[in-house]
Amino acid sequence: MSIETREAIRIDVDTGSRGSAIWIGDAITERLPELLDAHGFGARRFIVSSPVIWRVHGEHLGRILGGGEPILLPDGERYKNLQSVARVYDALIRAGADRGSSIVAVGGGVIGDTAGFAAATFLRGIRLAHVPTTLLAQVDSSIGGKVGVNHALGKNLIGAFHQPALVAIDPLMLKTLPRREFRSGLDEVVKYGMIASRGLFDRIAVHTKGIFARDPDVLIPAIVESCRIKAEVVSADEREGGPRRTLNFGHTIGHALEVVTKYRRFRHGEAIALGMLAAADLGVARGALAERERQALAQLIAQLGPLPSLAKLTIGEVLEAIRRDKKVVNGRLHFVLAIEVGATVTVDDVTEDELRAVLERMGMKG
Ligand SMILES: NC(=O)c1ccc[n+]([C@@H]2O[C@H](COP(=O)([O-])OP(=O)(O)OC[C@H]3O[C@@H](n4cnc5c(N)ncnc54)[C@H](O)[C@@H]3O)[C@@H](O)[C@H]2O)c1
Ligand SMILES: [Zn+2]
Repeated sequence: MSIETREAIRIDVDTGSRGSAIWIGDAITERLPELLDAHGFGARRFIVSSPVIWRVHGEHLGRILGGGEPILLPDGERYKNLQSVARVYDALIRAGADRGSSIVAVGGGVIGDTAGFAAATFLRGIRLAHVPTTLLAQVDSSIGGKVGVNHALGKNLIGAFHQPALVAIDPLMLKTLPRREFRSGLDEVVKYGMIASRGLFDRIAVHTKGIFARDPDVLIPAIVESCRIKAEVVSADEREGGPRRTLNFGHTIGHALEVVTKYRRFRHGEAIALGMLAAADLGVARGALAERERQALAQLIAQLGPLPSLAKLTIGEVLEAIRRDKKVVNGRLHFVLAIEVGATVTVDDVTEDELRAVLERMGMKG
């Protein structure tokens, strides 16, 4: 199949509050003007991106989207803060933006979350489109309507729910993504396999090479299925009261690892890969998961490449980080366990001794 004949795929997120249309296809960005028109975007569209992303994709997207200068925010997690949001407000106000204006966020999760929060709050909310440029943003952060920024005292503490009216996912944009960033997104794809689809899981295992080579025949179906799974879960439960929790598989211990290393050692997906291994180990220890399923996960994660080491992390600090996690509600930790590849269960009775034993088996001390 050539790029010209490959059909674009549409997935809808329906949350009651507001619908969101996800379009996926190689070169779908060429159709952005038409898609923005079709999804109710007015003529004034403000692009928010970063210098790094705009250097590689700006010429192409600037030509397609036209309009004025993009609003470029500094790159990196440490700039996902209220100062960056304020820069977006400043630019919008100076340009005389109004309620009919919209934001088109072009970037990874950092740009999407920051620009999305500006869109959620400027004039109590203007239309938002995401053009995600990392694999993680294409399968995860651009879908579901969570937007927000970090506070000096913690990650993602300031935020809102604001569904993008349009998400345009162009896998061709991933060609310039460094391997480590790509792998980090792929770990979230493995997560979707673990929580909802053995077929997806098996296809990543069989086609690892093709996926890393960005072969559209294997990459696009993997992105589409991941988006379907997230869209389905979010449609059922926008605010994470119940079913949405399943998306946190691997994230309890994963987040704790990111926190204790101050977000410097691991890319998000790498920490989640380690968190999934830990959750699978806990599942086996509880008799909820068969050992051969745990091995299949460990094998697949190893196949995606090496992960940063856990050296010098202590059990005490990781447990402390877990205790402070947002997934602790009314003093109870909600923990997502895999029961097989493709299915999970959420429990709230995991003890600290069980967690300690898992961390010990991962090689941590004290
Ligand atoms: N809103 C949500 O539901 C949600 C879900 C998961 C993660 N997140 C957030 O997403 C963020 C992480 O996002 P990320 O992993 O996309 O990281 P990121 O946005 O920091 O991007 C990673 C790096 O890749 C570069 N880059 C982006 N696209 C590129 C391209 N096409 N070619 C070359 N380089 C490119 C960026 O400049 C950056 O240096 C975190 O802040 C996390 O909290 C949000
Ligand atoms: Zn994640």
